[in-house]
Amino acid sequence: MHIWVVYESRLGNTAHIARVIADALSTTHRVRLVEAQQAEVPYHVDLIFIGYPLHKGRSPEAILAWLAKLPYNALKDTLFVVFDIRYRRFRICHRSGETRHLTRLLQQLGGRKAGNAQSFYLLGKGGPLSEGELRRAVRWAITIGERLSHLSATTMLASEKHSHHVIA
Ligand SMILES: Cc1cc2nc3c(=O)[nH]c(=O)nc-3n(C[C@H](O)[C@H](O)[C@H](O)COP(=O)(O)O)c2cc1C
Repeated sequence: MHIWVVYESRLGNTAHIARVIADALSTTHRVRLVEAQQAEVPYHVDLIFIGYPLHKGRSPEAILAWLAKLPYNALKDTLFVVFDIRYRRFRICHRSGETRHLTRLLQQLGGRKAGNAQSFYLLGKGGPLSEGELRRAVRWAITIGERLSHLSATTMLASEKHSHHVIA
């Protein structure tokens, strides 16, 4: 699959998670790691991971600016999954309204949700990431990658069978 990992990061923690996700997937997929400010139109991209930090309830401005630039239906045939980085103290709190908002925007551009949003936690307000979060991010990303590769292989097989049937 062709996968993008798009992120925005102020202090570097989201960038760190995005990097390990991209590295882990690049052994089996074609992967591009890109900061939201540098992201363009994702042509022929099968799956996009989108990551941002919770920051005093502020919107993920760079991600929103990127989405605002995309043309109509730019994410048609593209799957997406969102992750956020947050301070552990906020764990019990809100499922972020930002994630819901982002999901809606991504769907309006034609994207399809590939899985539930995931949060990764910091020990303190500025970091570091809690023990095990990098490993958890890798496992999460690999599971999604494997599930979707399997699904697309099955879909391709099914459509091949169908086309043989039609030709025969
Ligand atoms: C001023 C400030 C406000 C923050 N507000 C929140 C918040 O409202 N909720 C939350 O879960 N984390 C909050 N955090 C923690 C950030 O998510 C954390 O610093 C994270 O590392 C930022 O991501 P980045 O390292 O990719 O820039 C805040 C951090 C700072 C410095």
